[in-house]
Amino acid sequence: MPIIPANVMRRLPQQFFASLTSRAAVLIASGRDVINLGQGNPDLPTPRHIVEALQTAAQDPTTHRYPPFRGLPALREAICTFYAREYGVQLDAQREVAVLFGGKAGLVEISQCLLNPGDIALVPDPGYPDYLSGIAVAGADFVAMPLAEKNGFLPDYRQVDLQVAERAKLMFLNYPNNPTAAVATSTFFEETIAFAKRHDIVVAHDFAYGALGFSGVQQSFLQSPGAKDVGVEFYTLSKTYNMAGWRVGFALGNETVVELLNTLQDHYFVSLFGGIQRAAATALLGDQGCVRELRDTYRSRRDAFLNALKRLGYPRLLPAEGSFFVWLPTPPGTTSVAFAERLLQEQGVVVAPGIGFGEAGEGYVRVAMLAPEARLEEAAARIAAVAAKA
Ligand SMILES: Cc1ncc(COP(=O)(O)O)c(C=O)c1O
Repeated sequence: MPIIPANVMRRLPQQFFASLTSRAAVLIASGRDVINLGQGNPDLPTPRHIVEALQTAAQDPTTHRYPPFRGLPALREAICTFYAREYGVQLDAQREVAVLFGGKAGLVEISQCLLNPGDIALVPDPGYPDYLSGIAVAGADFVAMPLAEKNGFLPDYRQVDLQVAERAKLMFLNYPNNPTAAVATSTFFEETIAFAKRHDIVVAHDFAYGALGFSGVQQSFLQSPGAKDVGVEFYTLSKTYNMAGWRVGFALGNETVVELLNTLQDHYFVSLFGGIQRAAATALLGDQGCVRELRDTYRSRRDAFLNALKRLGYPRLLPAEGSFFVWLPTPPGTTSVAFAERLLQEQGVVVAPGIGFGEAGEGYVRVAMLAPEARLEEAAARIAAVAAKA
């Protein structure tokens, strides 16, 4: 019997990085000493007190039953306490919080909640590829907002075509930014809110790296006056507490958008395992020393990597102010794919070619600071060796 997939399956974008990942796996299997800095999977373990909270919760049979559809009240309250403590943002636990299976799920769902076929969503270029997945599922179209180096990798709303702005219903932003490692200013968020209000565009701010800003200026979108009128912020425990495998995220802010996300999820899920929800509340309410330590670790790794490249005369380097990535300009005359390919084949270093994040990502590769400092310095030496021959 022929199995005919639904049209939506054909609309889903190609996974650009899949072939690089599988070729790296082949090299590793062949016994080659590969330094894999191509992906964004945190390398350090979840802090012990959070794991212990899960162990305790898993022993309690009440967590074995279906949890409430929209998450445990204790987790929703913990999320509000966390936002009030970290950002001074007050949230209503009933109406302004949607618990998610990781940020990724919500970032895909929001397009299904807001977009009809033919609608437009604005996306950052370069940007996190999964924004495009949700837009494709909704049958909508995207228009890229280039993040230019000369603008500090912030979109320039004056460059958005007026007709596009009028048709756009949704916009994705992400600071600290993957892949450029840039951070946003409060002035930029104020401009964003004014632009969104002018054109009736919902803002989805992806704050996945909220805990990993190094310049001290990084803030929540929800701190800006009027933010809740126009949008929501997506937060995740994946990076803040090394909990990527646990799949805990949340969307916060505009109550209409939050209600849409919760309604869609009422049909898909019965929320996360109660034990994970209790451990997530422990993470948010417990001692935050582990977060400070993690931020310091990533800062030292970034410094070790960039200082090594500088010492070795790498042609051009950019500051990395947030996230755990370094956005590295490719040597003059080399494309991002060609450079990444040479790094893989000649030196066994895996990086992500910038073009995989959008056309404006050409001319850069993304390097994840997800290995010990000595290993990152070794990677820098190998990268500089290829650049010297470029
Ligand atoms: C920019 C950005 N947003 C969202 C996510 C998704 O995180 P999670 O689904 O683990 O919450 C990631 C993960 O790599 C990311 O880099």
